[in-house]
Amino acid sequence: MIYLDNAATTYPKPEAVYKAIDKCLREFGANPGRAGHKLSLNAGRAIYETRELLCELFNIDNPMNIIFTSNATESLNLAIKGLLKSGDHVITTSMEHNSVIRPIMSLKEAGVECSIIDCNDEGVLEVEKLEKEIKDNTKLIAITHGSNVTGTIMPIEEIGKISNKHNILFLVDAAQTAGVYTIDVKKLNIDLLAFPGHKGLFGPQGTGGLYIGEGIELRQMKEGGTGSKSESLLQPDILPDRYESGTPNTPGIVGLGAGICFILEEGIDKIRKHEENLTAYMLDGLRTIDMIKVYGPKNQKKQGAVISINIGKIDSSEVSYILDKAFDIAVRSGLHCSPLSHKTIGTFEQGTIRFSIGYFNTKEDIDESIYALKKICKEI
Ligand SMILES: Cc1ncc(COP(=O)(O)O)c(C=O)c1O
Repeated sequence: MIYLDNAATTYPKPEAVYKAIDKCLREFGANPGRAGHKLSLNAGRAIYETRELLCELFNIDNPMNIIFTSNATESLNLAIKGLLKSGDHVITTSMEHNSVIRPIMSLKEAGVECSIIDCNDEGVLEVEKLEKEIKDNTKLIAITHGSNVTGTIMPIEEIGKISNKHNILFLVDAAQTAGVYTIDVKKLNIDLLAFPGHKGLFGPQGTGGLYIGEGIELRQMKEGGTGSKSESLLQPDILPDRYESGTPNTPGIVGLGAGICFILEEGIDKIRKHEENLTAYMLDGLRTIDMIKVYGPKNQKKQGAVISINIGKIDSSEVSYILDKAFDIAVRSGLHCSPLSHKTIGTFEQGTIRFSIGYFNTKEDIDESIYALKKICKEI
């Protein structure tokens, strides 16, 4: 079977990830940070090593400023709901995933104002439009780095400069880019970086994280056992304990660490180059099929390895069903949890068929996909 649903979760994982999880469960499967025995200490050390690897990947100084969560959604909720309060204004775009839009909308009743900047029909944002929306009470700019519908890469370097100039906090949703694009939180002026562990970082599902810039105070989403300051009835305010209550996903975090090691060993440029090459190759193949409409920038330098298409007016879920049943090709159809993106590119009714390429895909996978699409177009 051909897996082209890597934007949802990467599959397969590097061999080292499977091995690391297995080793963790067998050899140091104790509760970390809770006891003084060897197994607990080894589990705690392994979690700390993953924090250090994330620091290396994102150029973060202090490993304690990384909070482990269960996915990018939880990270985004912590950042948005933890930060914004009544009277604050937040700026975002029409290309966001629901995991940015819904937490913001949930705060509207609590008195948080929001501006959603319209992107063009390729999902491209005009930075000038965003700067014009800045007001005295603008507290946060929250934006995706790469669209999960069109792959469009957002100008986060320019936005980081704007947020820095106006003294506004900058939250980046790196769900589609972490592990594939270089993200340097210092160079890009990123204050809050939300990332999933299970996509480009090659960890298992149930992993994710939030980098919180030095000195930024968020309201915690949960309170409970941290293994620290147990004499106190109040949540400790030290990081990461303030935001990490309860037993962590140790095997998942260890697997995530192995995924990041793989990225650092392969080299992020090599990974991106491979995905860019396959994206260009697929875009070329799609250009040869008249009935197919391709959305987004249609340029591998301006988009991640995500390609959304439609065949005439045919429902996107019908095509993805045929791809799976008849050709054993796994893609995703519909709205991809991002209704505003579909309104932006004009596919709200039909949805799109999304091919999302990963590091383990090959040219042959793309050839098979183009062959299948040609056949479907002929027979439909
Ligand atoms: C752009 C974007 N943001 C956020 C998310 C949410 O990620 P998670 O599934 O890890 O919660 C996704 C998931 O596909 C995404 O594509």
